[in-house]
Amino acid sequence: ERIPEVEELLGKMTLKEKIGQLNLLTPGGGVATGSVVSENVEAKIRKGQVGGLFGVAGPERVRVAQELAVNHSRLKIPLLIGSDVIHGYKTTFPIPLGLSSSWDMQLMEEVARISAREATADGINWNFSPMVDIARDPRWGRIAEGAGEDPYLGSQVARAMVRGYQGDDLSQPGTMMATVKHLALYGAAEAGRDYHSVDMSRIKMFNQYLPPYKAAVDEGVASVMTSFNDIDGIPASGNKWLLTELLRDRWGFKGMVVSDYTSVNEMIAHGLGDLQAVSALALNAGLDMDMVGEGFLTTLEKSVEEGKVSEESITNAARRILEAKHRLGLFEDPYRYLDESRPAKDILSPENRAAAKEIAKKTFVLLKKHENTLPLDPKAKIALVGPLANSQNNMLGTWAPTGDVKNAIPVLEGFKRSMPGVNVSYAKGANITDDPELARKVNVFGPRVEISEKDPAELLEEALELVRKSDVVVAVLGEATEMSGEAASRTDLSLPPSQKKLLEALVETGKPVVVVLMSGRPLTIEEESRMPVSILQTWHPGVEAGNAVVEVLYGKYNPAGKLTATWPRNVGQIPIYHSAKITGRPGPDSEFQKFKSNYLDAPNTPLYPFGYGLSYTDFEYSNLRLDKKKVGQGETITATVTVKNTGDYDGEEVVQLYLRDLVRSITPPSKQLKGFRKVFIKKGATAEVSITLQPGDLKFYNSQLEYVSEPGEFEVFVGGNSEQTLKAGFELTN
Ligand code: IFM
Repeated sequence: ERIPEVEELLGKMTLKEKIGQLNLLTPGGGVATGSVVSENVEAKIRKGQVGGLFGVAGPERVRVAQELAVNHSRLKIPLLIGSDVIHGYKTTFPIPLGLSSSWDMQLMEEVARISAREATADGINWNFSPMVDIARDPRWGRIAEGAGEDPYLGSQVARAMVRGYQGDDLSQPGTMMATVKHLALYGAAEAGRDYHSVDMSRIKMFNQYLPPYKAAVDEGVASVMTSFNDIDGIPASGNKWLLTELLRDRWGFKGMVVSDYTSVNEMIAHGLGDLQAVSALALNAGLDMDMVGEGFLTTLEKSVEEGKVSEESITNAARRILEAKHRLGLFEDPYRYLDESRPAKDILSPENRAAAKEIAKKTFVLLKKHENTLPLDPKAKIALVGPLANSQNNMLGTWAPTGDVKNAIPVLEGFKRSMPGVNVSYAKGANITDDPELARKVNVFGPRVEISEKDPAELLEEALELVRKSDVVVAVLGEATEMSGEAASRTDLSLPPSQKKLLEALVETGKPVVVVLMSGRPLTIEEESRMPVSILQTWHPGVEAGNAVVEVLYGKYNPAGKLTATWPRNVGQIPIYHSAKITGRPGPDSEFQKFKSNYLDAPNTPLYPFGYGLSYTDFEYSNLRLDKKKVGQGETITATVTVKNTGDYDGEEVVQLYLRDLVRSITPPSKQLKGFRKVFIKKGATAEVSITLQPGDLKFYNSQLEYVSEPGEFEVFVGGNSEQTLKAGFELTN
């Protein structure tokens, strides 16, 4: 349906003005993730050469930009104001990989809603989130920014975030346009190296990698961002199959498509021609807006003259951008998002901080419990050690450009605020890393790794002295925030040697040790997992980090997070994920067998499987039953299981359902997540938990890429993680 106002405007626009709308600039001053920032932005806005800006925030600043467009450009077209609000605006929530570990879609929606409220109070109307790239390679630093390895869970997260950002009506001042990114397959970069090539079969794409993007489109996401990688040899920003045949024709997407930062220009380096050629390729492929690179602005007119691009396709792209502005209500009121009284009341409010704390607690994953150290005894004397124990600079996590580290509460401060009566003393004990080169590389956005002037042996001795006088050690270890995230790929996922050494020395003292681990990705901690320690994975927990960690350590909240990406034993096992195919020669899980699919030097099993996470209490599963033995096409089937809380604490459990299609026309995954429910069970109590499979849950894309279910036997697995499950079976009939 055409919008009359937009059509009227298009009718008045020159070719140059239409091309101007396709140009997205950043004046710098924020965090630039490429080598270029835009120049002469003001003059370009006046000339009608800018459709949107990002990296500009605050009602006053945005008003200046908007006034330039509205009062000084010929057609007075307001600007889109974009931003990367990835896990909170000023109230920074845990990193998205952590958020997904809550398996709580209401929580995800709430995070997005609060983020939208805060960002729009600062004049932003367009968000470059959610990032829904499936990631099965923890070497890739941006695994931190998504929901992990699974398409079913990833799709639910995508939908929840889109709902949270956009609400029901985009023209409401508390909502903003969402952008699903990065279409497509960005998380499958070869060898986990950022921006690297992707080569993948269509069957794998459709079944495993594309569902979350499609889910966001189905939920009504207003815009899509392309990825940096190539797909079938053509970078996403110039890939017509991807942007037109799949996204628009097959999925019915009606919104606008924006490139990633200079990704159009980068097609020159990919080997696809000069700036004019790659810009024409992108426009013809279906890209609407060019981020920062200005290839559209500087070459499209010439391409029209030379017949390489039609004016009609430029009009179509401009239309989609103007329609987005219309949906936001910007034509009605260009200053809709500019209420100078809002920041003080809507941003970083006490309520938002309180939400950030509650939410952070729900993202922690208890990886290991040793004896009864956790929850901590408030009477015990605590030695708080480790390079992340008092590191305000490392609490927010990667890609929190709108957050301010100064607002973050580190763990030491969390002890003082949340457990003021506890006797706690602190020593750093070790640097995050002793390697100055690594420190230099991760300190791009500020001092995340600070190498002490003291000798490492002296640092260690200070900590040990403290430990000798204490009852329990809490060691806060892991990655600095920028050791994960964009352009932060790693080939070694173990704790840096400085921290390993510290932990070994702490354990040697014989005192009970609790490791609070922080990271943006799964780490390879097989050695540490064998030590007599408890391990609580807390990701990078956000602005309320310290309070959330301390409240969980003392059992004010019983951790219930579950991993959404498999933790490998070592880097050689990567990619490792729960839904891998079975192979014709399935390897045994532990013992090696010649001529089977296994390794000489490691088992096939991960260190911690997908869906894994412990609780201070224990849950026992029994009596899995299905409501039918045979199910017809189009019917539902319900699995019910008995879950008993057999431990000493009330707690929540994420009950997970996996499905295996035993015989079908293309090789099935060993199992696939198809349902889950998070339940609260009081200690000693029992819950009957039911999960219903919908007809679509039995479907897959076959070799013709048709979405079908095929009659035959299925197995259902239900449990508290992807490996420890009860099993039942049913038949899908014709
Ligand atoms: O939105 C981001 C994207 O995820 C990575 N490149 C830069 C964009 C804009 O900041």
